[in-house]
Amino acid sequence: MTAAEPKHLKKEGTKPKNLIQALKTIQQVEGHVSPESARAIAQQLRVPYSEVFSVATFYHLFSTEPLGKYRIYVCTGITCYIKGNMENLKYLKSVLGIKDGHHTSSDGLFTVKEVSCLSCCSHAPVVTVHMPDGTKRIVGRANPEVLQKMISELRHLARKKGWVK
Ligand code: FES
Repeated sequence: MTAAEPKHLKKEGTKPKNLIQALKTIQQVEGHVSPESARAIAQQLRVPYSEVFSVATFYHLFSTEPLGKYRIYVCTGITCYIKGNMENLKYLKSVLGIKDGHHTSSDGLFTVKEVSCLSCCSHAPVVTVHMPDGTKRIVGRANPEVLQKMISELRHLARKKGWVK
């Protein structure tokens, strides 16, 4: 998509108040909000590109980079933080080979991101997995052992689907 051709944004019209909806549409159709798509939104809704980019990077449901098949969100809200989710985050990034400053594994299967409180603090520390079919799994009382089993299961599913060898 180019700035001159916002082909997925017909129903959003030209009203700046439709910025979130426009970002949702692009995220859903293209899998992420690229700089080109952000420029197209800015042009169509007549809002500054910097505003589109700040909104796209503020909310965890949007991503400015291509996402993995499995999107893993690690809660770093206060309860999960105290209960050890930073160690779980480090473990996931290490076991999936995701370097600092990056979010997605090199095989394109996993994206790992930090999020604020997921509103299920009684199960802390909490990790959620957004599956390719749109469903969501909540992993409560997460620890490296539980996460290792989860990763193995997701890799197994990916092999069955033919996404990886
Ligand atoms: S702090 Fe993690 S679910 Fe609330």
